[in-house]
Amino acid sequence: MKLAAKLEELTKWYELKSETVKALRGVTFDVPEGDYVAIMGPSGSGKSTLLNLLGCLDRPTHGSLFLGDANIANMNDNQLSHTRATRIGFIFQSYNLIQQLTVVENIEVPLYYQGRLSKSDRERCHELAGMVGLGDRLKHRPAQLSGGQQQRVAIARSLVNDPYFVLADEPTGNLDTVTSEEILKLFESLNAMGKTIIMVTHENEIAAHAKRVIRLRDGLVQSDVRKTDRIILN
Ligand SMILES: Nc1ncnc2c1ncn2[C@@H]1O[C@H](COP(=O)(O)OP(=O)(O)O)[C@@H](O)[C@H]1O
Ligand SMILES: [Mg+2]
Repeated sequence: MKLAAKLEELTKWYELKSETVKALRGVTFDVPEGDYVAIMGPSGSGKSTLLNLLGCLDRPTHGSLFLGDANIANMNDNQLSHTRATRIGFIFQSYNLIQQLTVVENIEVPLYYQGRLSKSDRERCHELAGMVGLGDRLKHRPAQLSGGQQQRVAIARSLVNDPYFVLADEPTGNLDTVTSEEILKLFESLNAMGKTIIMVTHENEIAAHAKRVIRLRDGLVQSDVRKTDRIILN
């Protein structure tokens, strides 16, 4: 099976003046293409550090993180930014849309990194807007949209580069329960289409929508449970 990511003894230390903080102390797991993973763990367990590495915002101290055939530990800053801009989809709690741009322009943003947009690029962005249920809101600006609609724009934007995986950091953190359910339904349908999703959440009800829950504790994987595992056990 093809892997979207492969983590081997992934380690991250932060060197402070007075001490070394061992935020990740050897994390190993595979993310097969098409997986839907929730990452959980108490505050300080290393979730943000792991997300930063998966998102190519930082390099590990030791160990490896393969995205496709490339180990990000061996990348220089340019290669790291290029991978981040072209092969990772980001979704944040606060949507992070550009207020001056319309829905469809926000979806196009990651493509500008690669230069001019072709006609087929633009068509793809329209299609993505339709896929997330915003086909009739193409010319709206973020301020004219609800929180749930803004998060849908962010989801469409995260998919535009055909990423290795979509990284979602507390994607429903700013949304009410009903809207959160709608966003989670959208994730489920994207996952059913084969999109790989890695989501950080501190809520069990949110994590329950994923296929697999990885719990971190003190910079290590405490448990890694796939939904079907439970069914087999019963
Ligand atoms: N930039 C940093 N410099 C120093 N220590 C850090 C930095 N970022 C995180 N840490 C420390 O690393 C550990 C893991 O933090 P973090 O990855 O933010 O955990 P979580 O997101 O699960 O709360 C914590 O002890 C935190 O204080
Ligand atoms: Mg954090």
